[in-house]
Amino acid sequence: VVLVLDFGSQYTHLITRRIRGLSIVSFCLPANASFDSIKALNPSVIILSGGPHSVHEEGAPSVPDGFFEYARENKIAVLGICYGLQLIVKVLGGEVKQAASQEYGRMLIKTTEKSSKLYGDLEEPTEQQVWMSHGDEAVKLPEGFTVVARSSQGNVAAIENASMNVYGLQYHPEVTHSELGLETLKRFLLDIGGISPDWKLQDVLTEQIELVKSMVGPDDYAICALSGGVDSTVAATIVHRAIGDRLFCCFVDNGLMRYKEQERVMETFKSDLHLPVTCVDATEQFLGKLKGVSDPEKKRKIIGAEFIAVFDEFSTKLEKQLGKRPAFLVQGTLYPDVIESCPPPGSGKSHSHTIKSHHNVGGLPAEMKLKLVEPLKWLFKDEVRKLGELLDVPSYFLKRHPFPGPGLAVRVMGDVTLDNALDTLRLADEIFINCIKEAGLYDEIWQAFAVYLPVKTVGVQGDKRTHSHAIALRAITSQDGMTADWYHFNTKFLAEVSSKICNTVRGINRVVYDITSKPPATVEWE
Ligand code: XMP
Repeated sequence: VVLVLDFGSQYTHLITRRIRGLSIVSFCLPANASFDSIKALNPSVIILSGGPHSVHEEGAPSVPDGFFEYARENKIAVLGICYGLQLIVKVLGGEVKQAASQEYGRMLIKTTEKSSKLYGDLEEPTEQQVWMSHGDEAVKLPEGFTVVARSSQGNVAAIENASMNVYGLQYHPEVTHSELGLETLKRFLLDIGGISPDWKLQDVLTEQIELVKSMVGPDDYAICALSGGVDSTVAATIVHRAIGDRLFCCFVDNGLMRYKEQERVMETFKSDLHLPVTCVDATEQFLGKLKGVSDPEKKRKIIGAEFIAVFDEFSTKLEKQLGKRPAFLVQGTLYPDVIESCPPPGSGKSHSHTIKSHHNVGGLPAEMKLKLVEPLKWLFKDEVRKLGELLDVPSYFLKRHPFPGPGLAVRVMGDVTLDNALDTLRLADEIFINCIKEAGLYDEIWQAFAVYLPVKTVGVQGDKRTHSHAIALRAITSQDGMTADWYHFNTKFLAEVSSKICNTVRGINRVVYDITSKPPATVEWE
C-alpha cells in the first residue's frame, strides 16, 4: 500500500489517483491521523503531500514523533512533495526559509548529478518543465542529503538520502504540467519503493462483493435509493451481486425528472441490470408541497424532506411484507467525500459509521438507524465508471451527465408549478441534449441542460405578436464540478438549437446561451 499523508494540498487526491493509475493501491489519510492508524495500514511507501502552510507557522501540521525512525526500521521509502519536502528538511535538522522570490506555475529545473535514485543514470544534466507552487525554500539540508535538481533560479528542486530512503521534490510530479513527473513518481514507487504494480479493479470488485456478503447477514435486508445516476446504480449492482434479492431498490419519480426519465432508467434497471427496483410515483406529493414556493433554498428543503418521507414509507411497506425492517442502506458515496471522515481499510479503525446529514440521500433521520453499505467509498469517479463496465452497466449510462438531486426544481426559476413550466422545460432540454448528441459533442461536455426563465419577452411568430417565456441553455466543461468553463459551441450549432426549440416548444419565443464560468456563477442557476 502507498499511503499519502494529506497536508492540505489541492492536489492530494490527484497523487492517489495517479498512483492507482499505475496499478498500485493507494490510500490517503489526513495529516493529523493517529500514528497507530498509519502503522495499521502497513504501508511500503509513504508520500507526504504538499499543503498551504509554512513549516514555521505556529501549529503547522507535521509527522508524528518517531516517524522517520519507524520508516527506517520498516524499510519504508518516504517522498515529500513541496510542503512535504520542507517538512522533511525541518524535522531532520535542516533549514527552511521564506524564499526571496516565490516560484509559482511552470518552471524549469535541471538535474545536478549524473546519477541519482530519483532521476536514474543520465549522460549529462537534463532539464525538465515542472509545476511549482511554493513560497518557502530549503536553504540547508539535513545531514546525509544531496541536492539532485535545482530550479532555474538556483533553488533546491529535488533532494535525496538513499541510505535513509528519504526523498523530496519541491515541485508537483502529479500534475500533467510537470512533463516527466509521472515517470519520476513511477521510478520512485517501483525502483526505490520496490512496489509491484498488480492492483486491479476486478480484484476490488471481488473484494467488495465478499465484504458486502460478510456485512449483510443471511436474514438481513438492504435498501437503496436509485437516482438514475452512475454512482447509485453501480453501488446497487455490486450489492445485488452479493446478496441477490435481499436488496430492495426504490426509484422515486418526484415529477422533477427529465423527459421520459422514469421509463428510460426503469428499462435500464430491468432489462440491462436485472435490478429489483420499485418505482414510486410521488409526483403529486412533491408538486403539491412545492406549489407557491419560489425561494431556492426552501424548494431544496421541501424536496429533501419529501424524499425522506417516501423512503420511510418504502421501508415500512417492506417491513410489513418481510416481517423485518431492512437494516442496511446502500449508498454510492465516493472516496473524495469520505477521505476526511472515514479511514481506509486496514487502518485499524472501524469503517461503519451511521448516516450523517451530508450524505447524498439528503440526510435520513437518525431514528431510521440504518447501517451504511458503501461499496464505492474507496474509489474515484473514473474508477467507478470502469467498475461499471466490468459489471456490464451500459456505456451510455456510465457516460450520462450529472443531474442534481433536486432535479428540474433548480432549473425552473421560481414556482415550478406555474405555466406548465416543467413540461416546457423537459421538451426544450431534450431537444438541446439530442442536438449535442447528434453533433457528437456529448462526451466532451461535462454537463448540459436548459433552464426555464420566469420572464416573458415579446416575440413575433407566424405574423403574430407573442408574449412568452425564454429558455436559457447552459453547457460546461469541468473536471469535478468545482470549477467550470462554459462550452464554446460554434454559432451555427447554437442557431439550429434555438430555432428548433422556438419552432417546437409551445410557450417559448426566445433562447439565450449562458456564457459564465464557475466562479463567478455556479453550474446550476439556483
Ligand atoms: P453548482 O450549481 O453547485 O453545481 O455549481 C455543481 C455540481 O453539483 C450538482 N448539484 C447538485 N447535485 N444535489 C446534487 O446531488 C444538489 O442539490 C445539487 N446542486 C448542484 C450540479 O448539477 C453540478 O454538477
